[in-house]
Amino acid sequence: MPQTVMTRLISSEGLEARSKDLIDPEFTARRPDWIGGNISDYDVSFLSGLVSFARPKTSVEIGVASGWSSAVLLHALTKTLGKDGFNLHAIDLFEDFYLKPEYKTGQAVTEAVPQYLPNYKLHTGKIALEAMKDVGRVEFAFIDAHHYHPWAALDFLAVLPFMEKGRWVAFHDINLCTFERHKHTNRGPFYMFHMWQDTKLQSTQNPSMIGAVMLERQPQQYLRDLLEILHTPWELSLSPEDIESVVSFVGEHFGDAWKAKFADLCEKRNNDIHLAKAS
Ligand SMILES: C[S@@+](CC[C@H](N)C(=O)[O-])C[C@H]1O[C@@H](n2cnc3c(N)ncnc32)[C@H](O)[C@@H]1O
Repeated sequence: MPQTVMTRLISSEGLEARSKDLIDPEFTARRPDWIGGNISDYDVSFLSGLVSFARPKTSVEIGVASGWSSAVLLHALTKTLGKDGFNLHAIDLFEDFYLKPEYKTGQAVTEAVPQYLPNYKLHTGKIALEAMKDVGRVEFAFIDAHHYHPWAALDFLAVLPFMEKGRWVAFHDINLCTFERHKHTNRGPFYMFHMWQDTKLQSTQNPSMIGAVMLERQPQQYLRDLLEILHTPWELSLSPEDIESVVSFVGEHFGDAWKAKFADLCEKRNNDIHLAKAS
């Protein structure tokens, strides 16, 4: 059994136990057989238990793919808050399911749980730093998009000004980089979870693939931590457009002093990658 970080609020075992009342066999049987790259049944227990505990009226998921994790969130939220009690926004860069482009991003929702479509708003074609202006304030976020550092941290940055103290942000694939086959790549969610200084929970799976961090301070007080995480070497470079999104987002939400720090960060860490490629 891995070490599960206990909070004074709830344990991971407690969260996963809640899912027994949320994720029924009839729902699971509706999972389309074409999906892939989705969260596991272990992760489903943790994620559904977490939203039933946190009771968010508005949530955002970043990284949709087939839409199976969206379907899980919609089902758990409906059982917890009722069909008129919540909204789920879902952001993905691509219109089509990245593993099988013959299916649309989010199509599992339409196929498996069409009754939840009124509560679901899909935002495709934009990174979260651009899409969040159409989403607005949220009470819960689930981040499961690009796993190469710095993307999980940038997705966290994208939700930060739209959240309040006391809310939870879940990350998928928090230990993916420790798997032999990944050769220490896909480090983004690992850094976000393991460098988090405040309350956090991980699933009881060994190693855990899903975890969640709680905002115990005001959102802007996490910028210093985030900057430290973002200064660890990047696994891929950002395009000039993506850098512009980062820098202008920080300026708009957190002011010129932070804007200058993030501009310096992007220049330094992007240059490292270009220099490494050139050598
Ligand atoms: C691992 S899959 C998500 C799986 C999904 N959460 C599930 O469990 O069913 C990652 C998704 O992130 C999307 N993605 C990749 N880079 C992205 C980015 N920078 N911003 C938003 N979405 C991105 C991909 O198109 C892909 O659909």
